[in-house]
Amino acid sequence: MTAPVLEVHLSETDAAHALRHDVRLGLSADPKWLSPRWFYDARGSELFEQITMLPEYYPTRTERELLRQVVAQIAARAAVDALVELGSGSSEKTRLLLDALTATGSLRRFVPLDVSESALRAAMAAVAREYPGLVVHGVVGDFTEHLELLPAVRSERRLVAFLGGTIGNLVPNERAAFFATLHAALHPGELLLVGAGLVTDPAIMVPAYDDAAGITAEFNRNVLHVLNRELGADFDVSAFDHLALWDVTHEWIEMRLQARRAMTVQVPAIGMRAQFAEGEQMRTEVSTKFRRAGLGAELQTAGFTDQLWWTDPDDRFALVLAAAS
Ligand code: SAH
Ligand code: AVI
Repeated sequence: MTAPVLEVHLSETDAAHALRHDVRLGLSADPKWLSPRWFYDARGSELFEQITMLPEYYPTRTERELLRQVVAQIAARAAVDALVELGSGSSEKTRLLLDALTATGSLRRFVPLDVSESALRAAMAAVAREYPGLVVHGVVGDFTEHLELLPAVRSERRLVAFLGGTIGNLVPNERAAFFATLHAALHPGELLLVGAGLVTDPAIMVPAYDDAAGITAEFNRNVLHVLNRELGADFDVSAFDHLALWDVTHEWIEMRLQARRAMTVQVPAIGMRAQFAEGEQMRTEVSTKFRRAGLGAELQTAGFTDQLWWTDPDDRFALVLAAAS
């Protein structure tokens, strides 16, 4: 087994700087917001893994089953040398791709990229153990900032996987910038595989983000623990309720934290004091659900052509394979 290599594009100083910048912006906005990127400290990554196993949270198992069905078709089109995975987390479903791509005989390298160093290290160690012939080259980085720094070897053809529906956690202008930057980082003919949640019945979508066991609520509130620890903030985490609602206009699930009482929160690291009114809601995540025409057009505009689409039998989740032009 080759020892896995970890490359850090996001140092603790960069991350601390980005967190301060985001929190300053988000807490002074009206309405207030926080970026979902900050959910994923070690505890947040663990809570996300628990979410993926909840009965209400259909996206992970739906995508896994769909990938199982179509992975041979993907591998047939993607005789690639490297698999890059963005927002890789535990890389659990990715094993299906790794199995199929190693079977083609061309795959040499796996490059998972994630902001969560703990999740990345655990996934890298497991993949290196399970696929001893593969070079595992992890990158601690932000997929909205570090795509141009992805390792690229001229002779190497890559497939970039962006699974889980994480693309939906970006708002439209962030998505457009993401697809354009990714396209610029790829050579013509290199491939992108995106997993995306589709618009379906709100009675199915909303409980997936508001489970009976309260794990998603804990995941949502975890961002306040991150701010308390990293910025010395004094959020009373138990004074915030978890909300998940379907925004019919934007076609996204929005997670919010609602203040149970009026309070003043100190954020010493940025010299800020944030006032919350009783009942005030702060946005912590959007999870966009797509329609084929819309996502297909976004990809096309960014230069991703020859799209192949697959959906599950209930039309709740899609996988799209496209080539960089
Ligand atoms: N791909 C996995 C994990 C999805 S959870 C799956 O399908 O189950 C989202 C993952 O993206 C987390 O591991 C989180 O740490 C990572 N992430 C969130 N925002 C990110 C960003 N801006 N840059 C890189 N990784 C990010
Ligand atoms: C990572 N991402 C695709 C998840 C989602 O469904 O939007 C994050 C999540 N938020 C609440 N539950 C899961």
